[in-house]
Amino acid sequence: MKMISLTIDGISVQVPDGTTILDAAASLGIDVPTFCHDPRLRPDGACRICVVEVEKARSLVTSCSTPVGEGMVVYTDSPSVVEARKEILRLMWANHPYNCLTCEKAGNCKLQDYSYRYGITDEDIQLFAGEKKKHEIDDSNKFYISDQNKCILCGKCVRICGELQCTNAIGRSDRGFTTHITPPFEIKLETSECVSCGNCVSYCPTGALSAKKPVKYREWEVKRVDTTCTYCGVGCQLQLLVKDNRVVGVEPVNGPANEGLLCVKGKFGYNFINHPDRLKTPLIKKDGKFEEASWAEALELVAEKLSETRDKYGPDAVAGLSSARCTNEENYLFQKLMRGAVGTNNVDHCARL
Ligand code: SF4
Ligand code: SF4
Ligand code: SF4
Ligand code: FES
Repeated sequence: MKMISLTIDGISVQVPDGTTILDAAASLGIDVPTFCHDPRLRPDGACRICVVEVEKARSLVTSCSTPVGEGMVVYTDSPSVVEARKEILRLMWANHPYNCLTCEKAGNCKLQDYSYRYGITDEDIQLFAGEKKKHEIDDSNKFYISDQNKCILCGKCVRICGELQCTNAIGRSDRGFTTHITPPFEIKLETSECVSCGNCVSYCPTGALSAKKPVKYREWEVKRVDTTCTYCGVGCQLQLLVKDNRVVGVEPVNGPANEGLLCVKGKFGYNFINHPDRLKTPLIKKDGKFEEASWAEALELVAEKLSETRDKYGPDAVAGLSSARCTNEENYLFQKLMRGAVGTNNVDHCARL
C-alpha cells in the first residue's frame, strides 16, 4: 500500500494514500470539529466547520473531504482556521433559537459544544442576528420530534436515511433561508415512508431531531450501559441510558453486526422494561384464575406435567417452543432439555410460531 508522508501541526505522520486530512489528524489524536461528517457516509462537505489550513493552498480546505498529499503541511488550529470556524458558528447562531436552557439535546449538542470550544460570546451570537425561522414542529411521529428551527442543514439525516437506512424518507425542501428537512410534499413524518428507525435522530448533531422522552432526563444524569439488543438474533450493540435504575433511552453503538444502526425496536422499544403490566413472577392457574407463584413451585409443576404427559403418551406428545430473544446459550440448554430429558426432537422457537 502506497504511504503518504505529511506534517500536521508540526508532527510528521505517514498514512495510506487516499486517507482524508481529517482521518490523518485523528490518527494523531487531533480532534477536528465536524457536523456533517460520518465515517460511514460519502463525504459531503456541507457544514465547513472542519476547515484546516494547508500551506500553499489558495484557501482553507474541508478536511473531511480532502485527501492527504505527499509533503503536505497542515495546520488544524491556526488563527485563520479558528476565525473561520467562529464565523461559521456565528452564522449558525444568526437564526438559531436561544433555547439551550430547555432543549432536550443540551449536553449532547455539537453546536453547543463547539460554541463553548471556540468561546462564542453574546456579541458573536448577535453579530449577524436577523430573522428567526418559523417552521412548525412536527411531533406526529410516536418516537421523535423534528424541530427544524434548530436545524443547521448539515444534511446528515438525509444521507443516513438514504445511504445507510435505505428508506429515503426525508430530503431538503425550499431554498435559501426557508430550506428545511421534511418528507416529500411537506407531509407529516407519521404519514411518510419513515419506518421510525431513529437512525437520523441518533446522529443529528443538534436538537433538530430528538427522541421523545417518556421520562425526562438531562444528558449528564444518565449512566450509559453497553449491551446487546435482545429483540432478535442480529446482535446489534447499543447503550442503555439509565437514570435512577430505570432505562430512559437507547443509543446505538458501533458493533460488527449493526455498524451504529438500530431498528425501531432496539432504539425505541424499551418501555416494556418498567411497564406495570410486566410479569415479575411466574403465574399458576388455580380454579381458572392466575395466581402469583414462586419459581420453585412453578418449575416443580412444569416438570411434573411434562413427565406425566411423556409417560402417558410418549415423548413426541410434547413440544418445546423457545424464544429468539433468549441468548444462544439459553436456547442451547433448552434443546438439550427437550432432546435429553424429555426425549423429543419437537423443539423450535418463536420466529416460526
Ligand atoms: S440545538 Fe443545541 S445549540 Fe440549539 S438550543 Fe438545543 S442545545 Fe442549544
Ligand atoms: S427515523 Fe429512520 S426511516 Fe425515519 S427519517 Fe429517520 S432514518 Fe429515515
Ligand atoms: S435535522 Fe439534524 S441532521 Fe438533519 S440536517 Fe438538520 S441538523 Fe443536520
Ligand atoms: S464535517 Fe467537513 S464539511 Fe462538514
